[in-house]
Amino acid sequence: MTRSRRPSAIIAPSILSADLARLADEIAMLEAGGADWVHVDVMDGRFVPNLTFGAKLIETVRRLTALPIDVHMMVVEPEKYLDDFAAAGADVLTIHPEVSPHLHRQLARIKELGKRAGAALNPSTPLDAVREVASDLDLLLVMSVNPGFGGQRFIAQALDKAARARRMLDDARSPAVLEIDGGINRDTIAAAWRAGVDAFVAGNAIFAAADPRAEIGALRGRCAEVA
Ligand code: DX5
Ligand code: ZN
Repeated sequence: MTRSRRPSAIIAPSILSADLARLADEIAMLEAGGADWVHVDVMDGRFVPNLTFGAKLIETVRRLTALPIDVHMMVVEPEKYLDDFAAAGADVLTIHPEVSPHLHRQLARIKELGKRAGAALNPSTPLDAVREVASDLDLLLVMSVNPGFGGQRFIAQALDKAARARRMLDDARSPAVLEIDGGINRDTIAAAWRAGVDAFVAGNAIFAAADPRAEIGALRGRCAEVA
């Protein structure tokens, strides 16, 4: 009898922690290390207390890699940027329901643009914020830090939330990938995998590692150990 095997962990390095002066080299390093996606953190200084990138950077990353670009939009009024980010070459556009009152419509718009639609939840935001649209999601991102900065400490309560998110998606027969973001490293990733997480964003753990390229495989390996 054949049993269906769980696919291996999706590793999505966040270029928030990359050396942007060497972006082409950093992306080549991620590819060589076997990264699955490239995670781009867009921050507007309003939803979160930090400023980062926009469409121009997404377009640059698009020219540098064929890997899926996973855009995490930490911005108010995300609908203002969907068209530009889609045109720039994003593959996944993830918005925060905390600042998306018309979430159903906004997710539909992302799909209309031919992109995968994601929703991201801050640590204090309940799963109920996305329950009614669970079957419409291509991705659900559970934040394991308060968004705004790389290198923060993993909030352990995110594990229980991720496990509940997994059940919610399964119950809704949602095709969504379950992703976690913030403080993911060799010590935290296995527990998140055990909770049912599919995709792991990691910034500091990869870019500050002695051997960033090897760290990608090391993180994935931690999940394989508890497969
Ligand atoms: C946090 C961002 C994260 C961040 C993760 O606001 O959404 O994607 O870059 O960085 P680490 O892995 O360093 O916590
Ligand atoms: Zn992120």
